[in-house]
Amino acid sequence: MCGIVGFIGKEEAAPILLDGLSRLEYRGYDSAGLAVYGEDNGVRVVKTKGRLQALFDLTQGGATLHGAVGLGHTRWATHGEPSDVNSHPHVSERGRFVVVHNGIIENYAELREFLQRKGVRFASQTDSEVVAQLLEYHYREDFLEAVRKTLGQLRGAYALGILCADAPDKLVAVRKDSPLVLGHGDDFQMLASDVTAVIKYTREVTYLDNGELAIITAQGFQVYDSYFQPVEKERHHVDWEISAAEKGGYEHFMAKEIMEQPEAFRKTVFPRIRDGRVVLDDLCFDRDYLGKLDKIYIIACGSSYHVGMVAKYNFERLLRKPVEVALASEFRYSEPIVTKSTLALVISQSGETIDTLTAMREAKRLGARVLSIVNVVGSSIARESDDVLYTWAGPEIAVATTKAYSTQMALTYLIALYFADLMQTISREEYSEVVSELLLVPTKLEQILAQRDSVQYFASLYFNQPSIFFIGRNIDYAIGLEGSLKLKEISYIHSEAYAAGELKHGTISLIEPGTLVVALASYGPLFEKMMSNIVEVKSRGADVVGLTVESRVEGIHRIADHVMEVPDTHPMLLPSLDVVPLQLFAYYIALQRGCDIDKPRNLAKSVTVE
Ligand code: G6P
Repeated sequence: MCGIVGFIGKEEAAPILLDGLSRLEYRGYDSAGLAVYGEDNGVRVVKTKGRLQALFDLTQGGATLHGAVGLGHTRWATHGEPSDVNSHPHVSERGRFVVVHNGIIENYAELREFLQRKGVRFASQTDSEVVAQLLEYHYREDFLEAVRKTLGQLRGAYALGILCADAPDKLVAVRKDSPLVLGHGDDFQMLASDVTAVIKYTREVTYLDNGELAIITAQGFQVYDSYFQPVEKERHHVDWEISAAEKGGYEHFMAKEIMEQPEAFRKTVFPRIRDGRVVLDDLCFDRDYLGKLDKIYIIACGSSYHVGMVAKYNFERLLRKPVEVALASEFRYSEPIVTKSTLALVISQSGETIDTLTAMREAKRLGARVLSIVNVVGSSIARESDDVLYTWAGPEIAVATTKAYSTQMALTYLIALYFADLMQTISREEYSEVVSELLLVPTKLEQILAQRDSVQYFASLYFNQPSIFFIGRNIDYAIGLEGSLKLKEISYIHSEAYAAGELKHGTISLIEPGTLVVALASYGPLFEKMMSNIVEVKSRGADVVGLTVESRVEGIHRIADHVMEVPDTHPMLLPSLDVVPLQLFAYYIALQRGCDIDKPRNLAKSVTVE
């Protein structure tokens, strides 16, 4: 979703803003723009529909815009089609205020009408332009007073960067629900939607909290709370390298991130296992609390939701407690049954997905204790949860998640083991077996990745399919959901994941000669049943690519056309291995089809609007 960058200092702002925007491209966007204030020319704005390259070309890499203060923006259209005029920055009618915005101004229609009645003429169809026009309307030679009055009228979610041509020695940043971070240099300050846009220039950052406003000058900054009282903020040092957010020789971030999974798994899991035991220092659950739990609600969106679908099987088997997995966007409006004895497990890579964040707040309001699994340190979900476990996946840039999914999954194993141990619902033998197997997962992942050529070969056979089905049972079904989503997201091939036993209740009518079915058959207890389901689709002419563990390869080879295999492991850890060939399959198919793999059409990495 929309990306914001701001710079104020001594150097030319435009090239820095363009560089920052290029690091936010992963968020998904359809247009981009820059505004720079220079003493000679005042405010100059250049904006255009399309990729950042177009903006780069229009400004000759920023060389045509002079000035040391400015704002940049990548837009993911919500109100008003993607077009030059709807792109940000938006400028007030008299040219005094420049605004970039991420989020949605929910009452924009009434504000627009109000301003139009006062004679204001709007240039765009966006909700965001009302902010610039409202600032101008309230302006009486006091920038901050205009900001204060404007904020008083806005409803919805917003991160704002504001520049006033009458006070070009400062920028104002405002955060409500949509994230913003400040970056601090010796003689410059930056603001951005996330740290990837600033770490080339500084590792010293401050995360704005909800409702906060910052006044930023080249020398420093002051943060205020929603009552405009000054607040002292803690500074953070970002310790990952800029190279973590670069491709490092890979053709795509997605390929790099797939290959990083063994290491990401190690980083997330190994420090949390000591002397054969899962140690979650950050958590303090006790047996009594867990024993009284009436339900575990897993709340998430997209791939994080698919992690929840797998976790349900593992949690219910090990903990013998009911687990409900809810799409965050549905949870909030479904009058969920939550009590003080409900644990909400919230899963989010970004920690900023607005549906997940608002569903989490609802769960809390209803009395649930919230434990979250988050990748981005300091994000909203992390800060508002009662307990948080971080995935240590590093920055994930490709829109389609891979290593974040894998590390989220890894943490669900640790939580399941930690709870089951406290509740004494797991035998010592199984506990030790799972822990030992966990430590072998990264090496097994490396083995799977080393054989990626065979997956590429299967992709070369099937990249022209109009539709691909994924079937499986139990945990295999839940992994199929993710395999199918990956394929849809980046290759634009229609795909469905089905519980294999359910296929014959309708969807089997779509199977015809040549239809590709990816059959997941790694879960041992249901292997025989899966074989029958594979025979069912084979008899209707389907081509079948099976996915199973080494020890069962022979069984499936007799029926399927091709087989992808992964090493054996404890059944509850299978998702970590099985998902990798499916990620590779989607990747190679998309590659063959010439798709924009890291930035698939219409998708955004961090979805900060409902
Ligand atoms: C978007 C992304 C998905 C992601 C989902 C949830 O839709 O494109 O890849 O799974 O958001 O994101 P989160 O950051 O909450 O895990």
